[in-house]
Amino acid sequence: MSWREEYERKIMTAQEALSLIHSGDRVAVQHAAGEPSYLLEVMVANREQYRGVEIVHQVPMGKCEYCKEGMEPYFRHNSIFSGKNSAQAIAEGRADYTPCFNFEIPKLFTEGPLPLDAALIHVTPPDEDGYVSLGISVDYTRPAVTAAKTVIAQVNQKMPRTFGDALIHISEITAFVLHDAPIIELTPPKIGEIERAIGENCAKLIHDGDTLQLGIGAIPDAVLMFLKDKKDLGIHSEMISDGVVELAEAGVITNARKNFNPGKSIVTFLMGTRRLYDYVDNNPNIIMRSVDYVTNPTVIMQNDHMISINSCVQVDLTGQVCSESIGHRQISGPGGQVDFVRGATMSKGGKSIIAMPSTTKGTISKIVMDLTPGSFVTTSRNDVDYVVTEYGIAHLKGRTLLQRGKMLIQIAHPDFREDLIRQYEERYHCRYEEVAV
Ligand code: COA
Repeated sequence: MSWREEYERKIMTAQEALSLIHSGDRVAVQHAAGEPSYLLEVMVANREQYRGVEIVHQVPMGKCEYCKEGMEPYFRHNSIFSGKNSAQAIAEGRADYTPCFNFEIPKLFTEGPLPLDAALIHVTPPDEDGYVSLGISVDYTRPAVTAAKTVIAQVNQKMPRTFGDALIHISEITAFVLHDAPIIELTPPKIGEIERAIGENCAKLIHDGDTLQLGIGAIPDAVLMFLKDKKDLGIHSEMISDGVVELAEAGVITNARKNFNPGKSIVTFLMGTRRLYDYVDNNPNIIMRSVDYVTNPTVIMQNDHMISINSCVQVDLTGQVCSESIGHRQISGPGGQVDFVRGATMSKGGKSIIAMPSTTKGTISKIVMDLTPGSFVTTSRNDVDYVVTEYGIAHLKGRTLLQRGKMLIQIAHPDFREDLIRQYEERYHCRYEEVAV
């Protein structure tokens, strides 16, 4: 049978395809902007046919209806990165959360304890050799396709075709559901004065030829704004967004000096506007690889001069970084933060940067004597390297507790410094002024 005949034979309606999922199954869903929203919508609409289906999902960018109130008999969400749409369900006990590093996720599927019954994925139509592409989100989805017994694909002509681990032969997929729809877009963040100042400070730590990992949000985009005069920057990043397109088109990001994967941007997922999606479509310079490759610290470290830039919720005066909760409320996850902090630390000439505004909402200091009780430490004080705010740069690696505390107070918002100094002097039984940094 030719691949075309096999493909035709596997095309079904969404209802037919989703009836291959049974009560009690564990189902992994392609995540972020690559989410197969149509399959999830139909699954939720037909919920009466399921009992206790476990949905494993990372960053939910869609409606996340399966974890809304009333869905408990049908679905149980197992989150591996909480987001705006799932945090409430986790807080109320209607969903659960599995702590893990990003690069480990595929192993949870392939070696346990999370073997998969099914995977819901979102792909391009097949090419002339019978390969579809996972497009903008390869991450744990490629390994999930290998691990799952049943793979159901939404085929969407609007999904960009990307290369690397994104390509999957149609023989690996159980059912195809043809449904064209716009790909989820992420509105570019607002970049204000504070983000610009943080971006400018981070840019001071970046040099020609460096390879970058950029987290999500306004700060990475603000950093990119200050890199326009650099030369031959490279990308090895969990994700990229629109900011990268401008620098690539301006010839700043060339990957030319990369010692590892030269000439190529290595990414596991991407999120942005249609401009980004058109840029990566059929672009041989963008290589999408699975998350167990891209965020594996032993892979990351092979890039010399690797610079990671991520953000956080709070940093305490010893350098413990919480990036995933407000107290015990899980609002996010480690993503690739720790993987990149460690990879950059082990890279020759590498640096890891935690960059954040000094306050949230202008009224709460993000630099604190002690993390809010219940907070989860994401990047440990043993791993932390640079912390950057709009007020400056604190290089904590190799510094004592007294030095770290003083350096962090110096980049805290001025309104909170007096209070922090008082707490510091009480805790350490010393005079702040007398500590040399
Ligand atoms: N105390 C109380 N609330 C805080 C807070 C603090 N110290 N810091 C942030 N918040 C609140 C904000 O006010 C905001 O609340 P809102 O939703 O009501 O507006 C919310 O938490 C999110 O904060 P914000 O500053 O808008 O987040 P962000 O979009 O800049 O993202 C992280 C910051 C830390 C959540 C994000 O970087 C993250 O998830 N990091 C971990 C994963 C990671 O680094 N991945 C890297 C590769 S993608």
